[in-house]
Amino acid sequence: TQSDGGEKKSQRLIVVSNRLPVTISKDGNGEYHFKMSSGGLVSALSGCKKTMEFTWIGWPGKYIPKEDRDHVNKRLLEEYNCFPVYLNDDLADKHYNGFSNSILWPLFHYHPGEMNFDAAHWLAYREANMRFAEVVSNFCQSGDMVWVQDYHLMLLPMLLRSMISGESAQGEMVRKELGRVKEGVDDEVVKDVLGMQPGVAQAVENTDEGVEMLDDVEENDELIQMKARRPHFPRGLSTFQKQEIAAKEKGKDGIRIGFFLHTPFPSSEIYRVLPVRREILLGVLQCDLIGFHTYDYARHFLSSCTRILGLQTQPNGIEFEGRYAQVGTYPIGIEPMQFVEGLQQEKVQNRLKALETRFQGCKVIIGVDRLDYIKGIPQKLHALEVFLTQHPEWIGKVVLVQLAIPSRQDVEEYQNLRACVNELVGRINGRFGTVEFMPIHYLHKSVPFEELTAMYALADACLITSTRDGMNLVAYEYISSQSKRHGSMVLSEFAGAAQSLNGSILINPWDTQSTADAIHCALEMGPEQRKSNWEKLFNYVSKYTAEAWGTTFVNELTRLSGLPPNGPAG
Ligand code: ADP
Ligand code: F6P
Repeated sequence: TQSDGGEKKSQRLIVVSNRLPVTISKDGNGEYHFKMSSGGLVSALSGCKKTMEFTWIGWPGKYIPKEDRDHVNKRLLEEYNCFPVYLNDDLADKHYNGFSNSILWPLFHYHPGEMNFDAAHWLAYREANMRFAEVVSNFCQSGDMVWVQDYHLMLLPMLLRSMISGESAQGEMVRKELGRVKEGVDDEVVKDVLGMQPGVAQAVENTDEGVEMLDDVEENDELIQMKARRPHFPRGLSTFQKQEIAAKEKGKDGIRIGFFLHTPFPSSEIYRVLPVRREILLGVLQCDLIGFHTYDYARHFLSSCTRILGLQTQPNGIEFEGRYAQVGTYPIGIEPMQFVEGLQQEKVQNRLKALETRFQGCKVIIGVDRLDYIKGIPQKLHALEVFLTQHPEWIGKVVLVQLAIPSRQDVEEYQNLRACVNELVGRINGRFGTVEFMPIHYLHKSVPFEELTAMYALADACLITSTRDGMNLVAYEYISSQSKRHGSMVLSEFAGAAQSLNGSILINPWDTQSTADAIHCALEMGPEQRKSNWEKLFNYVSKYTAEAWGTTFVNELTRLSGLPPNGPAG
């Protein structure tokens, strides 16, 4: 971006995600502790930090009382380049456990049966997104790039756009309402709308619909004052152009907004179940660039915009209110060298040797999943049970080490899953185990990086049975740790990774028999076949890294102007 004087403004990158890379907790003595967060989003963005400089804005996982914030904020900024958005516990609960993880998460993963729609959770989602918008808009300056992450923040692009151009967040929400009532405009409608909420007056002054309404209704003192205050836009400008003019007055023009979804975007047939399906789509359409892991997810998003909003789409985006939201595929990755080099550490090598001794004469299958119903852990356990039943010669010669990282434990479905997995593990171990041997080693806890790397290197096969998964980075991490053993990758076709990881044994986790057969095939595969598969897989994982993902997305965002490819409409 150029300033008026032609001098180049610096382009800062601001990443916004619900979860920060560090989660704060407080112990009984009032001491604050900072712990690395887990999950694919944190892993990938942390991987980008090597080459991309950015400030990371997000929720630190804990409400911090005002008197402690100076200390906590200072540590976050100085040690992690992070900036917190504080939400009170009730709001955070309804936003995170409620709307994000009990409504959007199940729906986006094709589990509408687990979706519990609750209007209070929707209001909290809006409110939390507004809090984020306030923090980010205060932080932003002209020419900045804001990269919004994931399903927790799908209203943020729209709210941010309105705030940086001077509308209040509430104003933006009712702007959509104004659009709907515009047809029958009269004084009564204006009074109703003005009376609705604080901030609406600003929306009426600044928006297309509002300006038209002001022109149409009978004058009174309030309206005369409003007209005098409103910016004087030339006629015929799009909303996008007006927003840019208004933002320039505030020193916040030329801000590019990108959005990346780390989950699948479901088929429009599933998406349209969502009661607030319009609002969520409108929320992200104010972006310059919208990214997904796979081509299918991008296609589903575009067809939802057509079916639900009636918008015409292009294969690479949508024009909306004069702005072109480009839509594309940006498959995420990891930093494989972190695992390749991690494996060389003495501590990891020692641990690996100890594990090899412990499991001598036994093949090891590894499973690493957050304890989430989308990961298909019960399906995995059923398949193992069928495999051991049909191949008793393997009893005592193969173990499944299943790490289940605790996740979203306040959500009922996750509690139910925990009980179900406990029961299954107990049953299978009870059935096939002996005093000396247990077929499943189940750990419901987080493990340190060194332990995780040693486990990945030890395993002869990795078993991923997600019933839906945005990408699944565990697959990438396993491959990166297998330069010696060339273990087999058994991967669900319902994980985004299946579209890229050619060289895996693909399975349908709902088909227990074929998953059991795949376990057999993985364990019996000869060394040459394993080596050739691994080379293909590692080649991909080394090329499509987290860093490549981040820089490709950000470079594309830098290039965009917000204007439709063929120039402004009209
Ligand atoms: P999701 O994003 O659904 O959690 P992914 O498979 O994409 O699933 O990513 C999981 C990430 O969590 C991986 O990068 C994995 O290394 C990381 N992880 C797994 N166990 C731990 C742990 N104990 N501590 C921190 N990160 C972990
Ligand atoms: O993959 C989707 C995702 O929400 C990621 O954004 C995140 O890394 C992971 O799941 C873990 O989720 P949470 O932040 O709820 O622990």
